[in-house]
Amino acid sequence: MIKFNSKLGASELSIFTKMSAMATKYDAINLGQGFPNFDCDPHLKSLISKYLDLGKSQYALMSGVSELRYSIAAKCNQLYHRDLNPDSEITVTAGATQAIFTVLTAFVKAGDEVIVFDPAYDSYKPCIALHGAKTVVYELQAPDFKIDWQRFKSLTNNKTKMVIINNPHNPLGTTYSENDLLQLQEILSGTDIIVLSDEVYEHLVFDNCLHHSVLSYNDLFNRTLSVYSFGKTFHITGWKLGYCVGPEYLMSEFRKVHQWNVFSVNSFVQYAIAEYLGDESNYLTLSSFYEKKRNLFNNALKGSRWKALACKGTYFQLYDYSEISNLGDTEFAEWLVNKHGIASIPISVFFESKRQDNLIRFCFAKTDEVLVEAAEVLSNI
Ligand SMILES: Cc1ncc(COP(=O)(O)O)c(C=O)c1O
Repeated sequence: MIKFNSKLGASELSIFTKMSAMATKYDAINLGQGFPNFDCDPHLKSLISKYLDLGKSQYALMSGVSELRYSIAAKCNQLYHRDLNPDSEITVTAGATQAIFTVLTAFVKAGDEVIVFDPAYDSYKPCIALHGAKTVVYELQAPDFKIDWQRFKSLTNNKTKMVIINNPHNPLGTTYSENDLLQLQEILSGTDIIVLSDEVYEHLVFDNCLHHSVLSYNDLFNRTLSVYSFGKTFHITGWKLGYCVGPEYLMSEFRKVHQWNVFSVNSFVQYAIAEYLGDESNYLTLSSFYEKKRNLFNNALKGSRWKALACKGTYFQLYDYSEISNLGDTEFAEWLVNKHGIASIPISVFFESKRQDNLIRFCFAKTDEVLVEAAEVLSNI
């Protein structure tokens, strides 16, 4: 064997892989996995066949097929009042994960600092480490996980290259208010700090609230690359299609990396999504679709020993299990799948400090039957 230094050190099996394996082993209901257990719209599938039959099988443009970029621009204009140039301010990517990696590769160098709010989606920190940069963690506090922007400001210095925000937030289910974005905008004013805004759950915001996108704030937009995922919006996580939006001077750097890393993303899927986006009901009905699922699940658990935290967006619901057990959350999640056949994700894994708040995450992107069955088991614990 040859010798080498691993760039990411000893990586353990992720909790997602571990919990899914346990779910299979114990034939459990899997509320751990962060993706739907139902299929996408048959019409969307027929569009895939349509564009395959039309021979859309060769390389797409590096930035994405123009039909899709123009559809995205129209959507961003309508929802966030941002008049994007589809030729220079939008790039289609192989999902949001690739967009996140590309943003970090394009801008973050060894010695830089990147501020991340914990608990954080699991891809951010390894990507920062791969570029030799340092993650600076801002730990959000239960139960409301609100950001104290002055505390955030105290973490910035002349090494801070980037801040990563995630709105709506996985795993918390929280959302940013207009005031949050205004404060962020003001604090960053006059600095060279870039924002990476992960908005993959933009269409999953509940209780008649609106998603506040960075795209709606001029100064913020001018320092931000924001990333989106059709996987989340159209129940097609396996198709791996997303996009990145930002001002031309940042987007041109993004594309320098994108062209040598990915070059272009599968063409027929892009054409199909471009046409599907033309009917806005395909994404505007998503919030009410998931809100019904959230309510179905939470109502079935009312009066039980499970305490729901507020879930304002995403398809993740946090539950406090303090009245049931004083086990640590990973042990508790293992006990839950082993003893009761329900797989979940412990929240400590999203914290650098592995902080214990007695919280686990359930994914409610599941059929109503599965949610009812799971809630019945849980409410008897
Ligand atoms: C917060 C967040 N960002 C990014 C992603 C990745 O999105 P994609 O599947 O489009 O790569 C996910 C997927 O779970 C996520 O939860």
